[in-house]
Amino acid sequence: MAPLSILIVGCGIAGTPFATFLLSNPSQYAKEKPHITILERASTPRPQGQNIDIRGAGVTIMRKLGIETAVRNSITHEEGVQFVDDRNGIWIQMAADKTGKVQTGTSDLEILRGSLAEICWKRSRAMSREVQSQGGKGIEYIFGDYLESLEQDGEKVHVRLAKSGEWRSFDLVVGADGLQSRTRQMVWGEKGEGERVRQVAGMYGAFFSLPKTSNDSLWRRWYSAPGRRGVMVRPCDATQPDRMTAFMMIMNLTDERLRSAARDGRKGAEAQKALFAEYFEGMKWECPRIVDEMLKADDFYYDMIAQVKMEKWSKGRVVLLGDAGYCASPISGMGTTLAFNGAYNLAGAITQHPNDLPAALATYETKMRPIVDLAQRLPLGGQAPYIINLETAWGIWIRNRILWLIALSGIVELASRFAGPPADKVKVEEFGLSQLEEWVEGDDEK
Ligand SMILES: Cc1cc2nc3c(=O)[nH]c(=O)nc-3n(C[C@H](O)[C@H](O)[C@H](O)COP(=O)(O)OP(=O)(O)OC[C@H]3O[C@@H](n4cnc5c(N)ncnc54)[C@H](O)[C@@H]3O)c2cc1C
Ligand SMILES: *[C@@H]1O[C@H](CO)[C@@H](O)[C@H](O)[C@H]1NC(C)=O
Ligand SMILES: *[C@@H]1O[C@H](CO)[C@@H](O)[C@H](O)[C@H]1NC(C)=O
Repeated sequence: MAPLSILIVGCGIAGTPFATFLLSNPSQYAKEKPHITILERASTPRPQGQNIDIRGAGVTIMRKLGIETAVRNSITHEEGVQFVDDRNGIWIQMAADKTGKVQTGTSDLEILRGSLAEICWKRSRAMSREVQSQGGKGIEYIFGDYLESLEQDGEKVHVRLAKSGEWRSFDLVVGADGLQSRTRQMVWGEKGEGERVRQVAGMYGAFFSLPKTSNDSLWRRWYSAPGRRGVMVRPCDATQPDRMTAFMMIMNLTDERLRSAARDGRKGAEAQKALFAEYFEGMKWECPRIVDEMLKADDFYYDMIAQVKMEKWSKGRVVLLGDAGYCASPISGMGTTLAFNGAYNLAGAITQHPNDLPAALATYETKMRPIVDLAQRLPLGGQAPYIINLETAWGIWIRNRILWLIALSGIVELASRFAGPPADKVKVEEFGLSQLEEWVEGDDEK
């Protein structure tokens, strides 16, 4: 049998670990290993994004990838969350669990998304070079291009690259191109996207970084403004000790401008910034400074806070991986863990059924379904945002006092043990893939 040829669309958190795992199958000689192409629309792996958590099963998979040292060298060291008011008064604080044993709002493995994407990409590159040194094909990376068309017959998937105009054929195409996946739209149809992409509580988010000030620390400060608006300021990592990350959030189900701005992606950044500036006009706390910094930010990223729900993640020879197929939304705290699980299970399923793609894809669906169902269950049935982000200043005043009473009673410590994301409930299957050696920066440059 000729080696499988696979196209992975998206060089994010899910795509590159999938490639690494697939190449780590010890029962194949290098020459028999799949030929992998990774296509990324941005000109480099995108450095944007903020504090994300690796939890439970995600940690097990991170270790299998051999990136624990690299990840631990890049963590944010966030101490936990403080709810603050206009004058930076702290009404409640919830500490991170540094033991890694309990799931709380901040995990012991919190890292900036861009750093993790870079580690995963470099890890895959090291794996690819190893395979190439043994006579295999390894991974081909194409940056700065995207698919213009995709058609499949029973045998192959035929794609055309938009910029180069080149036609290529693959045995399998993996759509790992995130929440607004074009692969999903091309294969499952644009009609029906409204049904598949389900916004959480009318929420939109803006992510960017800004300079650190004297009020900033390793604690995440979370401020709520009236009209269901919120801002969080969080620590960066050791490479950027004088910067912080900010997440601004709006809830509005009726403002059509917010929705259409999400469809424009990065092209719409100026309009997206203007909308956030409008919504945060006149807000107290440190909002004026944060809005100024947002308008200047060059790492600004905007999206609808949404989940992707699908009955099936594959169609013929196209399969979805990560946010593209089952985004759980940033408020689930499970996106990275899900992406890692998807990458590992898809590679494992293909390893189990090396000559039977339909069987491999069916196995992937069966393994992922319960994990996705668990991860997409949001606190309080998705109503939590309405309780945290209140409409009126009066409501926020009352909420802060309730939080304070809860803090005094000491039940928060107890409650956080039960309310954390369900990452520990996910089982990691053994597929006989190799345990990869620990990779650290610089290894692949040799
Ligand atoms: C810029 C950015 C910032 C983010 N910030 C946060 C954050 O702060 N907090 C949080 O919880 N989650 C964030 N996310 C989402 C988070 O990365 C995912 O929830 C999770 O890690 C799953 O990863 P993924 O690989 O499925 O998707 P992603 O990490 O979104 O990766 C998808 C990749 O596909 C690329 N891509 C998109 N469309 C195409 C196309 N048509 N052709 C080729 N390539 C394409 C993207 O550039 C990206 O590199 C962010 C995502 C991005 C892209
Ligand atoms: C820090 O917080 C105090 C109290 O709210 C405020 O007066 C001051 O302006 C803040 N400093 C900065 C740099 O935002
Ligand atoms: C939501 O947007 C609509 C339309 O722009 C506006 O009238 C309404 O006041 C907004 N709601 C909130 C809570 O900001």
